[in-house]
Amino acid sequence: MFAAIGSAVGLGNLWRFPYVCYKSGGGAFLIPYIIALFVVGIPLLIAEFAAGSIYRSSAPMGFKKISKRSEFAGWLSVIVAFFISIYYCVIVGWSLCYIIHSIFMAWGADASSFFYYKFLSSGEQILFSILFVWVAIYLILYKGVKSIGKFSMIAVPFPVILLLILTFVGITLPNAMNGLEFYLAPDFSKLLLPSTWLAAFAQVFFSLSLAQGIMIAYGSYLEKKSDITNNSFITAFADSGIAFLGGFAVFSTLGYLSFVTGMNFEEIARGGFALAFITYPTVISKIPFLQSIFGLIFFSILFLFGLTSAYSMVEAISKSISEKFKISRQKSNFIICLIGLLAGLFIGKNILLIETADHFISDFALVIVGLLECIIFAYLLGEEKLRKYVNKVSEIKIGRWWSISLKFLAPAVLVFMLLASSTSLLNYPSTGFLIILLIFFLSFILWRVKCRRAQ
Ligand code: PHE
Repeated sequence: MFAAIGSAVGLGNLWRFPYVCYKSGGGAFLIPYIIALFVVGIPLLIAEFAAGSIYRSSAPMGFKKISKRSEFAGWLSVIVAFFISIYYCVIVGWSLCYIIHSIFMAWGADASSFFYYKFLSSGEQILFSILFVWVAIYLILYKGVKSIGKFSMIAVPFPVILLLILTFVGITLPNAMNGLEFYLAPDFSKLLLPSTWLAAFAQVFFSLSLAQGIMIAYGSYLEKKSDITNNSFITAFADSGIAFLGGFAVFSTLGYLSFVTGMNFEEIARGGFALAFITYPTVISKIPFLQSIFGLIFFSILFLFGLTSAYSMVEAISKSISEKFKISRQKSNFIICLIGLLAGLFIGKNILLIETADHFISDFALVIVGLLECIIFAYLLGEEKLRKYVNKVSEIKIGRWWSISLKFLAPAVLVFMLLASSTSLLNYPSTGFLIILLIFFLSFILWRVKCRRAQ
C-alpha cells in the first residue's frame, strides 16, 4: 500500500494540483475535484486493484486472460507509462541537482537565468543525475516487490513529514495568508466552464496513476483476499490529502514572495517546472533565515515524491515484458532502465519536448487507455463479477453506484474529455451545457446497449 501511495503521490501533488486549483476556481474547484474522485478515480482504482489481485499478472497478460483481443490495451498502457517515465526521471534528476545547489544557493539572485542559461547547459550535471536516478530505480527494483515495499515504507512517509514542516514554516511567513486566499478563495463562476471540469478529471486521473498498468501490477502483489476497497480509499485519500497540503506549502510562500517583491500575485503564481525550479528558488533566496535548509527540504520532497512514482512505472513496464517474453525480472529491469536512461539523456535539456509530451500524455493518451480499460472491465469481464470479488474480500462493500460509474459514467466522462481536449470550445460556459447533454446521451446509449445484451 505504501508503494501504491508512493506511485500516486508525485510531482503532480506539489506542482500540478495547487496551481490547477488556484486557476480553476480556488476552493470551488474542490467540488468538481471530489466528484471526479468518486465518479472516475476511486471506481477505476478499485477495478485496477481487483483485476490485479484476481489475475495476478501485469496489465497486458491480465487483459489477455479476460479476452485475447484486449491484450493490446495493456501494451498501450505500458507504452504510455514508458514515455512518462522517460521525462519524469529527467525531472527527478533535476530535483536531485537542485538539492545540491540548495546547499550553496547556487542560483544567487536570479533563479531564472540560472535555470535556463547555467543549469540546462551544464551537460555533465544533468547526465550524472539522470544516470543516478536510473541506477537507483534499478537497485530498488532489484529484489522485486519486497525491496519496493521496504523502500517505500521509508521513502513515502519521510517526504510527507518534510512537507508538514515546510507548510508550517510557510504559513508563518509574512503575508502567507494572502497567498492562501489566492489558493482557496472560491470563485463559483468557474464551475460553469467545462475546462474546470476537464481539469478536475485530468488531475484525478493523472494523480492516481491510473491507466498505466501500475495499480494492476501492484494489485497482483496483494496477498490473496486482501481488502481491496480499504486499500483503494486509503490510497486515494492519502493522495488528495497530500495534494491539498502541498497547496498550503506552495501558496503560503508565494504570498510571501509577492510581499517582498511587491509583484502582483498573477505574475508569480505558476505551475510545473517553472514553479519548482524558478519561482521556488527565488522565494528561498528572499527568505532571511536558513535558506539552504529550506531548499534542501523542498527539493528532497520533490525528489522522493518523484522517485517513488518513477519506479512504479518501471515496475509495471518491466513486469509486463518479463511475463510476455519469459525473461527474468533482472533482465527486463536492466533493459528498461538502460533504454530509459539513454532516452532521458537524449531529451535531458529539451524543455519544449518535455512539456509537449506531458500535455499530450495527460490529455490524450491516458484518457484513451482509461476508456479502453473501462470497456474491458465493464463489458468484457463484467463489472458485476469484479464487484462480487471486491465485496467478498473487502470490509467496506461497494454498491451499485460503482457498477454504474464503471459502466456508464466513467466512459462517458472520458469520451467528453477526449472530445473536449481536441477542440477549443472549452472556455465558453455555453459549451458546458452542451457537454452535459452529451454525457447524458452517451450514458443512455451505453445503458441501452447493455439492455440489449441482457435480452
Ligand atoms: N501520480 C503521479 C503524480 O501525481 C504521476 C504519475 C503518473 C505516476 C503516471 C505514475 C504514473 O505526479
